[in-house]
Amino acid sequence: MPALFEPLTVRGLTLRNRIWIAPMCQYSVDQRDGVPTDWHLVHLGQFAIGGAGLVIAESTAISPEGRISDRDTGIWTDNQADAWARIVRFVRSQGAAAGIQLNHAGRKASTFAPWGSAGRRGTIPAVEGGWETVGPTAQPFDGYAAPRALDEAGIDRVVADFASAARRAVAAGFSVLEIHAAHGYLLHQFLSPLVNTRTDSYGGSLENRARLLLRVVEAVRQNAGDTVVFVRFSATDWASGGWDEQQTATVARWAADAGADFFDISTGGAIPGVEIPLEPGYQVPFARSVKTAAGVGVAAVGLITDPQHAEEIVASGSADAVLVGREALRDPHFAVRAAAELGASIDYLPGQYERAPYSQPAGVTR
Ligand SMILES: Cc1cc2nc3c(=O)[nH]c(=O)nc-3n(C[C@H](O)[C@H](O)[C@H](O)COP(=O)(O)O)c2cc1C
Repeated sequence: MPALFEPLTVRGLTLRNRIWIAPMCQYSVDQRDGVPTDWHLVHLGQFAIGGAGLVIAESTAISPEGRISDRDTGIWTDNQADAWARIVRFVRSQGAAAGIQLNHAGRKASTFAPWGSAGRRGTIPAVEGGWETVGPTAQPFDGYAAPRALDEAGIDRVVADFASAARRAVAAGFSVLEIHAAHGYLLHQFLSPLVNTRTDSYGGSLENRARLLLRVVEAVRQNAGDTVVFVRFSATDWASGGWDEQQTATVARWAADAGADFFDISTGGAIPGVEIPLEPGYQVPFARSVKTAAGVGVAAVGLITDPQHAEEIVASGSADAVLVGREALRDPHFAVRAAAELGASIDYLPGQYERAPYSQPAGVTR
């Protein structure tokens, strides 16, 4: 059996393989109420049909002000949790585990969605429904509106909102809760020394910059029961003096001690205008180094589009699993295709699709 198709158990949850779907914002909540829609059911459901071991739903806001855009999904109301429950039921019915990414966008919140906004970019003005953003300081991100620096009470509120979101996500049936501490959103804003210049107990030393994330991990763990908790990190800011892989490994270890089970290793997003050396698997070395230095389970992500390449990443021990994003949008059945290409025998091609195995010669009708 190829390494990619060996099941993986994380804290009692067994994933049927190691090809997982990366969280991907759909900006498809047209009602602007954070409630996931039929789009999300079909979008996420197709990956489960297509054989993925785990399907992680997009960045989902823990509070209205934590949304990246007004068309984000949320999990701050019971209504939203009920709508998620339907999606989770379908994903699970196809043998995949369902995960959700919990996020607060901080100073990168209240922005126009990247499509369907008539080309407008940046902060949504208040008169058009935008809202006040928050951050570690009042420094804005690249041309966005200036946030309000969070005070102690505001920080406590963020932790409480993550806790409630975790409780609702568990009630909705999710098997994996992924805390988003990457891509320049609020938790990453606190981690990065280039963004977080606070002088109180949440800024300065690594311990202080990690304090908010660790409080969130603890709160999520307390509300998650035995549900698996992931943390997504950006392992580097790609900027000198910024967040880097050593700090990531140290804080990943602390997060594991605080109750996180597994780590999803991405990069970038906090500092605009940096140069990122894009090539297939360009973030894999970061996953490997965090895995080795912190002694934790990791998934690699980023320009992994070829089954053989994915197999090498897992078989070589660089990562325990791969997350696939854009290639899964092109081919939602990437996992069953990979099984055919790698010669893995799997028993989860849906009966409905049995007449279309990947080995079927072209042109066969009946
Ligand atoms: C349409 C789209 C939406 C995305 N939304 C999110 C998101 O909600 N949360 C997140 O952490 N990353 C998000 N990402 C990043 C992906 O999770 C992934 O890390 C990135 O696309 C690299 O993987 P890939 O080369 O396989 O696409 C998004 C990427 C795409 C293409």
